[in-house]
Amino acid sequence: MRMLSTLAVAASLVCTAGLAGAAPAPMGDKNAFIADLIGQMTLEEKIGQLRLISIGQDMPQPQLIKEIAAGRVGGTFNSVTRADNRPLQDAAARQSRLKIPIFFAYDVVHGHRTVFPISLGLASSWDMGVVEQAARISGLEASADGLDATFAPMVDISRDPRWGRTSEGFGEDPHLVSQCARASVKGFQGASPANPQGVMAFVKHFALYGAVEGGRDYNTVDMSPQRMYQDYLPPYRAAIDAGAGGVMIALNSVNGVPATSNTWLLRDLLRKEWGFKGVTVSDHGAIDELLRHGVASNGREAAKLAIQAGVDMSMADSRYLEQLPGLVKSGDVPVRLIDDAVREVLGAKYDMGLFQDPYRRIGNAAGDPADVNAEARLHRAEARAAARKSLVLLENRNQTLPLKKSGTVAVIGPMADAPIDIMGSWSAAGKATQSVTLLQGMRDALAGNGKVVYARGANVTDDERVVGYLNFLNWDNPEVVQDKRSPGDMIAEAVEAARQSDVIVVAVGESRGMSHEASSRTSLSLPGSQQTLLKALRTTGKPLVVVLMNGRPLTVNWEKENADALLETWYAGTEGGHAIADVLFGDENPSGKLPISFPRSLGQIPTYYNHLRIGRPFTPGKPPNYTSQYFEEESGPLYPFGYGLSYTTFSLSDITLSGQTMPRNGKLTASVTVKNTGQREGETVVQLYVQDVTASVVRPVKELKDFRKVLLKPGESRVVTFPIDEDKLKFFNARLEYAAEPGDFNVQIGLDSESVRQQRFALQ
Ligand code: NOJ
Repeated sequence: MRMLSTLAVAASLVCTAGLAGAAPAPMGDKNAFIADLIGQMTLEEKIGQLRLISIGQDMPQPQLIKEIAAGRVGGTFNSVTRADNRPLQDAAARQSRLKIPIFFAYDVVHGHRTVFPISLGLASSWDMGVVEQAARISGLEASADGLDATFAPMVDISRDPRWGRTSEGFGEDPHLVSQCARASVKGFQGASPANPQGVMAFVKHFALYGAVEGGRDYNTVDMSPQRMYQDYLPPYRAAIDAGAGGVMIALNSVNGVPATSNTWLLRDLLRKEWGFKGVTVSDHGAIDELLRHGVASNGREAAKLAIQAGVDMSMADSRYLEQLPGLVKSGDVPVRLIDDAVREVLGAKYDMGLFQDPYRRIGNAAGDPADVNAEARLHRAEARAAARKSLVLLENRNQTLPLKKSGTVAVIGPMADAPIDIMGSWSAAGKATQSVTLLQGMRDALAGNGKVVYARGANVTDDERVVGYLNFLNWDNPEVVQDKRSPGDMIAEAVEAARQSDVIVVAVGESRGMSHEASSRTSLSLPGSQQTLLKALRTTGKPLVVVLMNGRPLTVNWEKENADALLETWYAGTEGGHAIADVLFGDENPSGKLPISFPRSLGQIPTYYNHLRIGRPFTPGKPPNYTSQYFEEESGPLYPFGYGLSYTTFSLSDITLSGQTMPRNGKLTASVTVKNTGQREGETVVQLYVQDVTASVVRPVKELKDFRKVLLKPGESRVVTFPIDEDKLKFFNARLEYAAEPGDFNVQIGLDSESVRQQRFALQ
């Protein structure tokens, strides 16, 4: 439907894909056009459309071309150049009987050739312009490489940082993640998925993947309907409402039923309740995995369950191809179900604009870039600007930062010169050789004015088991390369470098593979090798600036207490090194805020801020006995959601409410005055939280409902006004009705989720 308006102008065009001789349907009428095409297809051709092939994994290229020409492939993923995709499209759009184009997809999650900060970093900007722009440029670069679709955004709420894929999402909060979901879809697709300079967004992983038990990847999810509807489902919904053309189905089960065979999820919720009109794809091999989940005893049953549940395309497994013909023949699967799935696949291709022009994004050979990795194809300035906004200043004792551009800086640490790691996981077609590392960024910033001395200081980890795991998939070209010197020698060199310097900038964290798919951790601390390095550097007495590079919250208690400055940089992407140097030297005033809480210890997980109220809460300043807490350590997170410092300071006034009561369907406003009380211009994020004081079900202690990022000159004040309407007060009650209940509400406004001002009003 989305495309109809765009294509209305093309209403006079006729289908070029239909059988010669058959009266083609007008292309401007999507439904008629697709119905007409389906009417011409054999069962084998229909089943072919449901097949999504992984390039380089499923079969060699000559065989793939034959399969495509035979009408047995609907789309592919993992090939990333126009030259690679063209012969495949030729096989589909020129050689196959019905000339139905295929589409090309890829995991373009936070950049394509240019790598932007990981999603957790983008979310830290709390700037939807930044999030949208990163997606827009990713889509632009991907489409320029002949891609039509991306398996993104990944909007799984993640409250358990043991989960390695925390890095791929936008954090723990339903509102913030939903905003990021919307902005990403807008960015990737532009005005519509037919945009030749954008790609169709496949939101993933539907659903609840971030809640896997114990943070163990691929594990089960067991969740109350209230929590699902209230907290975990809104970001998928937001992406769909923003027009995402596709949905990727999660690998986990949901309350005992794998998402891949979950009719409630895919038909009742997604299609009937939410009105989703696009295409669904399974995740990699997920139909096959129904056997291992133990809900299908053979491939036939697996295929039947998946097609019945509403899985339109099967990714990288052959169950549909092998089993659907027999299932249809025996009457176990009505051909209507196949037609429904084919309609969605063809609909997606129609929406991508591929029936108008299968080469819409591939272009012709004469226009192919001579070098796909050419510098001129990168968007460095935009990547640097986004990365600057994604950095979160956690500590800054005695104004250690910003540094002066003079003297000698010791740049130390296993992450300081790590061009692969700084890209983060899912770095698409990014090239490590084009990354600016922290070392490079510091050298560029100091060029002509100061000196950099460098020492690696430690390996990311000395645990060979971990190194073996991280290199498992790429032994030929290992990502984690161990320095063979002894830890003692490396530390001695680093300490010596520090002694010769005025300040230490040490980059520590996780190699990117540690925060990735299938990289769940049992510890959230820095590996021992890096802790030893930090402690040795501390003994030099030099100012210690710790730069964190990681894809999940870490338990950085020692670092919090001992670093003079602590900067969370996530994985900041192609221009990461420049952006970090910009912040360290004060060319950029940091303004990022945490999109996820940092726990004090592993045992404290989960530490998300918007937890439900309880009967015996721990109250700071009151005796902890018989309250809900851990007796061995302090309560509350190490760093709360929404937290982040600046080189300037801000004050916040009390809240002014426009009224004490709000009528049904009425409106209120809550205003605060935020003032820059420091010496330099800076941005902060004013955050609005709401607490329902009494309701028919237990409600969270607070929930983020709105935020504004404001830029203020020194001494400048601004009144920030948040409108509050009934929508902001609604929740899913015990019967899953979405409604606001009359009674008192606390409005809280702060510059993080913990230090807030509060006022109360009543909904009548
Ligand atoms: C498996 C991952 O779970 C998913 O996020 C990704 O899109 C597919 N593989 C395709 O690469």
